[in-house]
Amino acid sequence: MNKVELEGIYTAYEGGARPVIRGLSLTVRAGEYVIVGGPNGAGKTTLLESINGLAKVTHGSVRVCGIDARKAGHEVRKRVGYVLQSFYFDPFTPFTVEQVVMMGRYGRMGFFRRPQKPDHEVVDRAIGLLGLEDLRKRPIGTLSGGQQQKAMIAQNIAKEPDIMLLDEPFSNLDFSTREFVTRVLEGLAAKGMPILMVSHAFDDLPDRKIRIAIMNDGKITYDDTCDSCEVEAIVRKTSRMN
Ligand SMILES: Nc1ncnc2c1ncn2[C@@H]1O[C@H](COP(=O)(O)OP(=O)(O)OP(=O)(O)O)[C@@H](O)[C@H]1O
Ligand SMILES: [Mg+2]
Repeated sequence: MNKVELEGIYTAYEGGARPVIRGLSLTVRAGEYVIVGGPNGAGKTTLLESINGLAKVTHGSVRVCGIDARKAGHEVRKRVGYVLQSFYFDPFTPFTVEQVVMMGRYGRMGFFRRPQKPDHEVVDRAIGLLGLEDLRKRPIGTLSGGQQQKAMIAQNIAKEPDIMLLDEPFSNLDFSTREFVTRVLEGLAAKGMPILMVSHAFDDLPDRKIRIAIMNDGKITYDDTCDSCEVEAIVRKTSRMN
């Protein structure tokens, strides 16, 4: 049931002259790793937010793990990892890296319960996976942008979601970290987790067949599987300037 099913969706912002997403259908099944490309403003972030019930879908159907995201966005968000495109932690944010990663567990343990041993183990593993051991006691706001991004990826891995959405997670990451995170994501996909990743960086894709969905002006205009080395050429060919 780890599946995303969108059928003929329209998504609009308050006060927008016309819907940003218009008549989009997409199914992502267990274990699929989908790269979402397309020019700035095409609606990629809006697509991810339509999936996890954060944006207002006015028509069509959004089912995530069988749950209707238009009716039960809160339930959907418990099951979906979402690494945001941009975020900013004030230097005085009163949480350490490990506390931020632990927040990924709140949906499972309830906000007011104390973390149990398994929660700590999952958090330790996520911190280890992203190589954040030396930074775990540091206030999150004192880290560099890339280090913060790694912490947010770790938080979403600690969440143990059924589906992972990532919005340009590589924008602040150095070359070796990109490769490393790609391998981590590939491992998750291999275990059956559907992954949707918005990206403009095509040099660090998993070394296998990739499904690529290109958005232009609120619609998916290309959706096919290709070798990772072909992705960049396809994106160039299929992305229209807005
Ligand atoms: N909160 C908002 N209110 C009104 N319009 C919005 C809002 N967020 C986005 N939009 C509009 O929706 C369209 C799609 O935006 P979206 O952020 O989904 O694009 P994107 O494909 O993620 O672009 P980028 O590559 O720059 O991140 C844009 O025209 C944008 O101006
Ligand atoms: Mg975006």
